[in-house]
Formats: sequence, structure tokens, C-alpha cells
Amino acid sequence: MSSLEQTLSIIKPDAVERNLDGEIKSFYEKNNLKIIKSKKVKISKEEASEFYKVHQTKPFYGELCNYLSSGPIVVMILEGENAVSNNRQLMGATDPKKAEDGTLRKMYGLSIDKNSVHGSDSVENAKIEINFFFK
Ligand code: CMP
Repeated sequence: MSSLEQTLSIIKPDAVERNLDGEIKSFYEKNNLKIIKSKKVKISKEEASEFYKVHQTKPFYGELCNYLSSGPIVVMILEGENAVSNNRQLMGATDPKKAEDGTLRKMYGLSIDKNSVHGSDSVENAKIEINFFFK
């Protein structure tokens, strides 16, 4: 079954810093994910903590929030058939060392923290995350 969905993608500070946002956007467009909205922002540590609050009990939570607020990021609404799972496949495993060839994190990720992109993990979370950045 396929369904038209929207998902949130974030190009993280390590990738924006290396000017990879254009390449990553064109990778999405070539792989059936249309960029409906896009903006470059810099968020505060408090905003990052709110965004990643599902991870608040994890040992890496503090570092994660420091990192996402450390420099400009590009946030996008992507739309397409099965956009949530399609985007997760295109991103690859969280740890770039474990990501499959041809995935964004394999191509661009530097480490598990500096893994270049974030994508919503479910349709339900996609709605919450889209609303967080594009109210
Ligand atoms: P992301 O998909 O943005 O969601 C949470 C982030 O936490 C994840 O990507 C990683 O960049 C980061 N992270 C850091 N350490 C870990 C870890 N041990 N397991 C999972 N995610 C981690």
C-alpha cells in the first residue's frame, strides 16, 4: 500500500557548514520527495531540547541538544508516496559507519552525532515535528 505523506527533514549543522544543503535537496527531489517548504534557521538550546524531548532520558541528550543548536540548520517539509519510510531509507542507519552505500548518512555523515540529517520516524511524529518548525 502506498499513501501520500509528509515528513520533516533537518539538514544538521555539520552538513550546512560544508555547503551540502543543495546536494541533499537535489537527492531528495531525485528520489520522489518534493520539497514543499524549506528554511534555514538557527535554534536555541531550549528549542532543541523541546524538539528532541523524546530522547530526554538518553545519556546523549545534552550533547544532542548542544549540537543541533550549534549552527544553522535547514528544515524542510518533504512530500511523496510513503515519504516517512522513503526518507528513512534514503538517510540510512543513524550511525554513518553502519549506513548502507548510497544513503545520505553514508555519503555525508561524520559520526553518530554529526550524521548530517534527521528525519521523522513515523507519520504521527512527522505531524508533530512539522508543526514544531512550520506553525
Ligand atoms: P537523529 O535521527 O537526529 O535523532 C536523534 C539523534 O541522536 C540521532 O540522529 C543521533 O545523531 C544522535 N545520537 C547520538 N548518540 C546516539 C546513540 N548512541 N544512539 C542513537 N542516536 C544517537
